[in-house]
Amino acid sequence: MAFRTIEWIDNTGVLRLLDQRRLPGQLVYLDLSTPDAVAEAITNMTVRGAPAIGVTAAYGMVTAARRGVDLRAADAVLRAARPTAVNLAWALDQMRGIWTHDPSALALTAKARAMEAEDIAVNRAISAHAMAVVPQGSATFFHHCNTGSLATVDLGTALGIIRTAHESGRKVLAYLDETRPRLQGAKLSAFELLQYGVPHAVVVDGASAHIMRTRHVDLCVVGCDRVAANGDTANKIGTYNLALAAADNGVPFYVAAPMSTIDRATLTGADIDIEERDPDEVLMLDSTPLAPAGTTALNLAFDVTPARLITGIITERGIIRAPYVENLARLFAGKGPGSP
Ligand code: MRU
Repeated sequence: MAFRTIEWIDNTGVLRLLDQRRLPGQLVYLDLSTPDAVAEAITNMTVRGAPAIGVTAAYGMVTAARRGVDLRAADAVLRAARPTAVNLAWALDQMRGIWTHDPSALALTAKARAMEAEDIAVNRAISAHAMAVVPQGSATFFHHCNTGSLATVDLGTALGIIRTAHESGRKVLAYLDETRPRLQGAKLSAFELLQYGVPHAVVVDGASAHIMRTRHVDLCVVGCDRVAANGDTANKIGTYNLALAAADNGVPFYVAAPMSTIDRATLTGADIDIEERDPDEVLMLDSTPLAPAGTTALNLAFDVTPARLITGIITERGIIRAPYVENLARLFAGKGPGSP
């Protein structure tokens, strides 16, 4: 891999993040050494993607311990950095489980490192399970946002499935939603697939229904920021539209979800806090205005896809299908998903 999304540099106590706001043009790394700086990097989308921000926040707690910052205060500032991706709270809960007993930097570093390694293992397992539903021979995917190595520690979830399908010898084509307004599909997913040699085409977000109707698409794979107990799934705005287009065209729609993104304390999608971001993300492209001065915009960063539109949720323990309430409960009880 020619880049590293997240790197902890222990001898200097620095978290090195690839500044994703500068991609695909420039590979610039930022070195952060305080919880406030780490929280700001999550908020301003230097780092983005649910699993990546979870591991980043874990290292944010390590910087707090190294600097003697009050851990309770650091936890609060990191927790508030972004609302929708549950991995942020999940990771901070894991860290809290350590620091309430042992607040040493050594103990917190060990936990963050373990979470970093676990993320990679989980992504590999998700990809391996997914191969059961990816056609042999040729496989054409539709994908939304970015869910690859840049959104995780490495490999990724949905984009990891596409990459794994390619590396397993399948003839892959991936349609990548450009993903307005921050263009994670055009800027980040295309950047990654180009590096891995995976054939792909960036398409405008409104094109999915037409492409599914007029060309062959085998399956949609997307990531998620929070899966509720009933399977409703929050992900980047536009995911719901993609799911509707898939349903109308009989294309299977899969969500790749580490168990850390499944939040059984949130009962339905209606209970998920949807982040609203600066209207200028919609009205401007970098510093170029796209709309007349004085126009306003509503910039909801995520939407919720109802569980009824989801063919399956691909986790590190297998593929979960409806009825989601029961089958997600079984998954967390360690009973496994049953056959794919
Ligand atoms: O606003 P972002 O870029 O953090 O949103 C990212 C997404 O919605 C991803 O699809 C999701 O976090 C899954 S990452 C494996």
